[in-house]
Amino acid sequence: MKKTKILVTGGTGFLGAALVRKLVQLTLPVRILDNGFRSSATRLADVFDRIELIQGDIRDPSIVSEAIRGMDAVIHLAAVNGTEFFYSKPDLVLDVGVRGILNVIEGCKKHGVGELIVASSSEVYQTPKTIPSDETESLIVPDVLNPRYSYGGSKIITELLLIHQCRADFKRALLFRPHNVYGPAMGWEHVIPQLIVRAIDQNRAHPKGPLPFPIQGDGRQTRAFIHIDDMIDGIVLLLEKGEHLNIYHIGNPEETTVADLARQIVQYFGRECQLIHGALQKGSTERRCPNINKMKLLGFHPKIPLRLGLPPVIEWHITNRIQHNHLAGVSS
Ligand SMILES: NC(=O)c1ccc[n+]([C@@H]2O[C@H](COP(=O)([O-])OP(=O)(O)OC[C@H]3O[C@@H](n4cnc5c(N)ncnc54)[C@H](O)[C@@H]3O)[C@@H](O)[C@H]2O)c1
Repeated sequence: MKKTKILVTGGTGFLGAALVRKLVQLTLPVRILDNGFRSSATRLADVFDRIELIQGDIRDPSIVSEAIRGMDAVIHLAAVNGTEFFYSKPDLVLDVGVRGILNVIEGCKKHGVGELIVASSSEVYQTPKTIPSDETESLIVPDVLNPRYSYGGSKIITELLLIHQCRADFKRALLFRPHNVYGPAMGWEHVIPQLIVRAIDQNRAHPKGPLPFPIQGDGRQTRAFIHIDDMIDGIVLLLEKGEHLNIYHIGNPEETTVADLARQIVQYFGRECQLIHGALQKGSTERRCPNINKMKLLGFHPKIPLRLGLPPVIEWHITNRIQHNHLAGVSS
């Protein structure tokens, strides 16, 4: 790969840090812009001497412009992610999403940066009509009054802006829709870490017999999880081969029910799982699974099945459980 100078916004986040580490491995010059809203630069302590880090807010046009100056490409990941935030901070989710992409597009145009790769999300579909869903599935906001859709809505706006404002001035501007990425240190406000933390706590509280395990709904809802390493391979592939104004699913079409996921996690602790069904959060989706044929045509094949990817993530959470208590206090 030629020595492209790359700005990664949100570069100390879950995807960002893993991507930055990969770009450093590929010996590409990397700059990061992140305000540390949901991350810490210490994540990248091992590569500090090989990256440039700008601490700043994606909503500030002058900081974004400065960060883009001198770059060849921008990979825009900064966003307020984490399901709990969609419900508790919908105003912020939209502000960061919409101002962020506008500033990034503006900055690229100002400095003649012709390569822009932007993270959207599978949440743009809400309830997909076809499973597995390909990139032509309709994007919807089912209810503007439900704060849940602040995130999906911000990503739909992001997509519209990228497609229609980057048509002419960019050599290559494209979008990818990640589908449920997981891995160690992914942040706590997602289904996998929440189930793992619950399993740790329940295992401690109920040392004998089948483990009572509350879940949302009846556990028949499905998701398809992609391991962070496969996800990063997908983004790097897009950097090499992605096409102008195209949209790509990056995911692993291994569809898993929430009940099965809960059982796999509980089994890790050597316990039998007794599921306790609860209410579903308003706005949550029954099934989600990507069709990744478009990425496959570029040569993408996820390599890590959930059964192999999950145990190291559970181990990471066991080791870092105390940190979660601390963070939960800070963010609530
Ligand atoms: N993780 C997933 O499963 C998933 C799924 C679909 C889409 N995505 C998208 O991929 C991208 C990366 O997601 P992630 O999982 O790494 O999330 P993350 O929360 O770990 O990373 C996002 C980063 O953006 C930063 N950020 C937030 N507000 C900011 C602001 N105002 N200014 C500057 N930086 C700010 C955060 O500090 C964080 O480091 C996001 O755009 C997200 O919407 C992720």
